[in-house]
Amino acid sequence: MCGIIAYTGSKPASPILIEGLKVLEYRGYDSAGLYVPGAGVHKAVGPVQALADAIPGLLPGTAGMGHTRWATHGNPSLENAHPHTDQNGTIFLVHNGIIENYMELREKLVEQGHTFTSETDTEVLAHLIGVEYEATHDMPASVVAALQSVRGTYGLAVMAEDTPDTIVAVRLGSPIAIGVKEQEFFVASDAAPMLRHTNSIIYLEDGEYAVVTPQGYTVYSFSHRQQEREPEIVDMQVEDADKNGHPHYMLKEILEVPSVLENGTRGRILMKEGNAKLGGLVDREDVLRDVERLIIVGCGSAYYAGMVGKLLVEDIVGIPAHVELASEFRHRSMLADENTAVLAISQSGETADTLAAIREAKRRGLTTVGIVNVVGSSIARETDVGIYNHAGPEMSVASTKGFLSQLELLVLFALYMGRMRSLTQAQGAELAMELLRLPEKVRMILSERHKLKLLAEEYLGYDDFLFIGRAYNLPTAFEGALKLKEVSYVHAEGYGAGEMKHGPIAMIDDIFPTVGIMPLDSTYSKMRSSIEEIRARDGKVIIVTTDGNTGVERLADDVVYIPETKECLTPILANVPLQLFAYYMGVLRGVNVDRPRNLAKSVTVE
Ligand code: F6R
Repeated sequence: MCGIIAYTGSKPASPILIEGLKVLEYRGYDSAGLYVPGAGVHKAVGPVQALADAIPGLLPGTAGMGHTRWATHGNPSLENAHPHTDQNGTIFLVHNGIIENYMELREKLVEQGHTFTSETDTEVLAHLIGVEYEATHDMPASVVAALQSVRGTYGLAVMAEDTPDTIVAVRLGSPIAIGVKEQEFFVASDAAPMLRHTNSIIYLEDGEYAVVTPQGYTVYSFSHRQQEREPEIVDMQVEDADKNGHPHYMLKEILEVPSVLENGTRGRILMKEGNAKLGGLVDREDVLRDVERLIIVGCGSAYYAGMVGKLLVEDIVGIPAHVELASEFRHRSMLADENTAVLAISQSGETADTLAAIREAKRRGLTTVGIVNVVGSSIARETDVGIYNHAGPEMSVASTKGFLSQLELLVLFALYMGRMRSLTQAQGAELAMELLRLPEKVRMILSERHKLKLLAEEYLGYDDFLFIGRAYNLPTAFEGALKLKEVSYVHAEGYGAGEMKHGPIAMIDDIFPTVGIMPLDSTYSKMRSSIEEIRARDGKVIIVTTDGNTGVERLADDVVYIPETKECLTPILANVPLQLFAYYMGVLRGVNVDRPRNLAKSVTVE
């Protein structure tokens, strides 16, 4: 959470910082601020545009840093916006992360006569560094010395007033990347805000810092040992991070789903062998062959993808699989032996709980596998092996293409693991063949998206929704409800259809519609019974079902059709209309669907 961008070079810094902050808004948008030596600190509450509006024209200065905030300590206000400064006003810094012991550090500093202007945990860092800097006038040494007393996580960019073109960037637990261009250098929380300028990126490791000037960069460990670090070329285009004429990233990203699914399978299907070729897993192929139990971890939508993953693994691979909220994983007894592997699912690759779960699994000696979209992210680097989504940057806060790509990769993973066991070549080839047909089937759903808009118009006045499903589409019910509430602020609950009569059916009346996800599959008749029960209580019903199943219209107020596919692939299709429904509901209700309130894209705090 929180986005950082810093620049040092020969061009005016402020437009570069503002433009970078706009790209980074998906990390937080409670307030924004920047510091340009010689032009001072500028801050605004609200989105980055408010900051842009608050700046009086082009600021002088060819270096500086900016921050867009997702509030953790202290509400969104000018005082709490970054950059923060020290007691003397000579050190300026922007921070992503959480300082756990900030209260005790702050109390000590107050006893020594320091005054604080914000409620943030970050401000103590500026003060601590300021104290060291006053004594030594050595920025990198001051930063590292100050951090010795700090407990928590941080990605930091630090500048001193009297060395105006030098940026010290530090990483512990929160990502920091450096962008390299000739005599121009960038520091940011991820590659996206730098792509307009460079694809040459270095990712700092935990416990490293970098000194960046217009002449170059040097990476050091916290013990001041120089680290050899060459930039990697990040294969991402600027357009990938643009809206390309669409009103919102969310719509653009839903429309990208067919090509994302195509990218996910490109070069990864061995049709003759009925298998998947997953280059990222070969390093642990022997270990994966012996895995007898899989634990899948993730948060939010990634967790729901994991719920589908559990079913896929049990059905296709034939080994027990468990799915855990990453945030719970470390807080209970983990019964795992050396034949258990842990699979982490994360679009951003930075979700703090998922990363912590992976670290815990590694501490216990378990093999870890990642399904991650952001190349070079922490989870991608810390898992033993992994598969990249290649879905392109997901800018909208709500996951759409990223989630569907996770489902696709779980199918590939199950196929690969299944072929090491008892899945036959014919079964594998049949599954792979159907997987390859999905992009076209998604295109068919997308071509009818106007129907979802009409549906959203029809249901605009309702404040509560229930989403129900079973088996492979129970996670679809959870995900459909999550998407609706996060982008439209409409109350929605996902429930197992079979659970209705154990409580939730009490809520049903004529102003509490139900969305039943019921393709023609093994649980269809059971779903029908649940829907009948809801109808009998005057509940309005929207049904998502398979093309041609027109008989169901008798049971529903509205029906949304999806193309036929294998049961285990239905979530990939059934989620598409639900994403569109949530999108249109949000837009019609006047929500900024790309930036829903209180949320951030990359959840780097536990
Ligand atoms: C919901 C959503 C979130 C994320 C969750 C995990 O639309 O986007 O629930 O799925 O925060 O994020 P990643 O996948 O980046 O670990």
